[in-house]
Amino acid sequence: AGGDRELLLNAIRDVADHPRAGVVFKDITPLLADPHAFSVLTDALAAAVTRQGATAVAGLEARGFILAAPAALRAGVGFVPVRKAGKLPGETMGERYELEYGTAEVELHTDAVGPGDRVLVIDDVLATGGTAEASVRLIRRTGAEVVGVTVLLELGFLGGRERLLSALDGTPLESLITV
Ligand code: PRP
Ligand code: MG
Repeated sequence: AGGDRELLLNAIRDVADHPRAGVVFKDITPLLADPHAFSVLTDALAAAVTRQGATAVAGLEARGFILAAPAALRAGVGFVPVRKAGKLPGETMGERYELEYGTAEVELHTDAVGPGDRVLVIDDVLATGGTAEASVRLIRRTGAEVVGVTVLLELGFLGGRERLLSALDGTPLESLITV
């Protein structure tokens, strides 16, 4: 609902010049510290899980974990971590993606999901879309279906939606808030 959007937006703090001059960082820690706002957010994310018929939720390290785990639990499905390279103990597969300077890699346990699974990807922020796009590619390589990407906050001016939609080919991208 529109009221929920305002409530969530008001719980996100703008921090000027972080992590470097000229960047306005979207800080979700006030939202996480407010149990009512966090619960409203969790309900909205859990509703997306149910709406897409997801059988698992993939959260993207690190901030995506905080949002995805309670949403999965509330929707009654399992949680799967997509981690930064080198953290998962089992057999992993990885996908690299471009950063402004250099590259990064996300990893998934090869047995985390597979054919027959319907996975909703949850993260806090969609910026350039690189993290989400690599995560979608990774999950699909297991044979699982990605049924959607849901984020709390989309930074529309960075073009992440366009980048992600060409990779998603029809899979819905939902942002609770777009700025
Ligand atoms: C941030 C944010 C998203 C990603 C969005 O994560 O939490 O995951 O960047 O950017 P993109 O759309 O350009 O890929 P970050 O890697 O900074 O770290 P964190 O979640 O571990 O704090
Ligand atoms: Mg992140």
